[in-house]
Amino acid sequence: MAAKKSNQSRPHPKVKPIGPFTLALDIGGTGLKAAILDVKGNMVTDRLRILTPEHCPPRLMLSKLKELVAMLPPTAPAYNRISVGFPGVVREGRIYTAHNLGTQPWIKFDLATALQKQFGKPCRVLNDADLQGLAAVGKYGGKGVEMVITLGTGVGSSLFENGRLLPHMEFAHHPLRNGQTYEEQLGDVTLKEVGKKRWSKRVRIAIQTLRDLINFDHLYIGGGNAEKIKFKLPPDVSIIPNTLGMIGGIYLWRD
Ligand code: BGC
Repeated sequence: MAAKKSNQSRPHPKVKPIGPFTLALDIGGTGLKAAILDVKGNMVTDRLRILTPEHCPPRLMLSKLKELVAMLPPTAPAYNRISVGFPGVVREGRIYTAHNLGTQPWIKFDLATALQKQFGKPCRVLNDADLQGLAAVGKYGGKGVEMVITLGTGVGSSLFENGRLLPHMEFAHHPLRNGQTYEEQLGDVTLKEVGKKRWSKRVRIAIQTLRDLINFDHLYIGGGNAEKIKFKLPPDVSIIPNTLGMIGGIYLWRD
């Protein structure tokens, strides 16, 4: 299958990238993405993307990731390690939930070890919103209470205090309004159903609800649908580029 390319965040071609190099994999409910990062987190290859199969159990995912990685150009630097953002709860490389892939076969699957075996390189796996958040607070903030939400197929969330991640914070399946969860109100399926205007109204309500609950100093909004918000955001809320979901991979190796 042809992979889509995006060359955002590529360093200037004359700057020689320095290793160690990280293979960054972003597992999404709709797309699987891959790129290689240099030691600073710059993408040194295009970001490749293929579609995620509907209901994607671990074995199928492993073969899709193999297919994706094989599409990296032969000129790409050899990678030394692998970072993965996964759309569910992850503890010590094991998966506990995967709502948009079909949770059941994923429960307790040791994805980090499976990928390490498949690609022969050390691998670390983190929740996708946690990983994107690490990149956001590393790049733009790192002070006070910062929250990140991602608006895509699912709704991701992560929370930081002075740059330190408080892991496993899942708002996606928590009630927001009218008996529906954040993901039911703000996920991609709903955006397509209700349109940008009504969806944006819900995003505004979610921001206020999170403000009352978390009292964040700053809220970052990422994910493929963030740019579809149709109102002016307050100064303590900002949109972050979706590429941070890949670049965050570098933070998994900054112990
Ligand atoms: C999952 C979260 C994930 C989010 C974005 C939700 O369905 O429960 O863990 O961060 O989707 O992918």
